Amino acid sequence: MPKEINVLFLDDEENILFAAERLLMAESYGVVTTTDPDKAMELIAGNPIKVVVSDQRMPKIVGVAFLRKVKEVFPDKVRILLSGYVDFVTAEEAINLGEVYRFITKPWKTPFLKASIQHAIEQYDMVQANRLLFEASERKNTQLEVLNTKLQGMYEAQKAFTSTVSHELRTPLSSIKMAVDMVMAGTAGDLNQNQKKFLSMAKDNVDRLNRLINDILDLTKLESGRMLLKLEHADLGGIIQGVVEIHTAVALEKGLILKAELAENIPVVPLDKDRIIQVLSNLVSNALKFTDKGGVTVVTELLADKDEIRVGIRDTGIGILKEDFSKLFQKFQQLGDAGECKTGGTGLGLAICLEIVTRHGGRIWVESIYGKGSCFYFTLPIHGKREVKA
Ligand SMILES: Nc1ncnc2c1ncn2[C@@H]1O[C@H](COP(=O)(O)OP(=O)(O)OP(=O)(O)O)[C@@H](O)[C@H]1O
Ligand SMILES: [Mg+2]
Repeated sequence: MPKEINVLFLDDEENILFAAERLLMAESYGVVTTTDPDKAMELIAGNPIKVVVSDQRMPKIVGVAFLRKVKEVFPDKVRILLSGYVDFVTAEEAINLGEVYRFITKPWKTPFLKASIQHAIEQYDMVQANRLLFEASERKNTQLEVLNTKLQGMYEAQKAFTSTVSHELRTPLSSIKMAVDMVMAGTAGDLNQNQKKFLSMAKDNVDRLNRLINDILDLTKLESGRMLLKLEHADLGGIIQGVVEIHTAVALEKGLILKAELAENIPVVPLDKDRIIQVLSNLVSNALKFTDKGGVTVVTELLADKDEIRVGIRDTGIGILKEDFSKLFQKFQQLGDAGECKTGGTGLGLAICLEIVTRHGGRIWVESIYGKGSCFYFTLPIHGKREVKA
């Protein structure tokens, strides 16, 4: 197979070219030689040349000028200048200007010429490999940017869609609720037991839809950073007592004990009252929902070393498997039998809790023994809000 021509040698002396050709061919380089600088340019254009070696003193053009021209037309080719000692200053200049990669004195020392050609070829290959890598990474970057823009657009569209649809659903839903309430109140005449039963089912489902729409709207706002926290210094103990009171009726109905065991040294902390009530309500209602025996206790603890308060909602309910812990805080995640039909939820509560607690600069997690009970914890920083997510 004919060898690929990688090295071009330009010199006005035929015997030099002959010697160079023999030497480099023996080293299995593909070499082409010429005494004519114009022909040299043609050969560079027509062959996969990696290295151009040129003599300095030639009748038509000096080597440095020729190599400068090569650099302009074929910037990747690695250029070597051949010359006598007398031209050292010219060579030094050319090297410093980046026009020449190496300078070899004539008469050359064979190992030195061979090593220089070898290094020049390696240099060429390295630059090409780098270029290929760079181009590939540029292409990837462009693809990623396009994809990112597309995803961002889709995310924005989905957000806009979610909030528009939720708003649009709310209005007709309130009129349905109002109409059902009026009929149930007897405004349209007396109702028999069956009619009352069906209307009450309709009302329950309207309430459930309302809750779902509100949750979706809340989560969309929280995730997009459009829900600003209204921070005030508040008595967390009082807030917990309030949430416990609201849920006492449900607890009694299930025969469960619901109580708060609050530490005495809890300072007032900056928090958004409505949002923290939302977190506590979801955690307490979850605890009651997934407990059939025993009860639910809300505990607080001051973690002074960490500058934060920890709230725990402990139940003696069904418990959660360790492998499910990370799933719980994702949207629409419900475990095992906790599907909508059985427990009436949609799996958004904990996702909302995570957003709200994180926005307060706190953390939320669960500890649980399957079959024995769970404790959901969240923390709130005592000093100021350290908002993690915009
Ligand atoms: N205290 C708990 N004990 C056992 N499992 C729980 C407990 N709290 C939450 N879970 C599990 O985590 C799931 C997600 O809870 P999350 O509050 O996000 O949704 P949900 O209560 O099902 O519905 P939603 O809160 O939207 O009305 C629940 O469906 C349930 O499987
Ligand atoms: Mg819930």
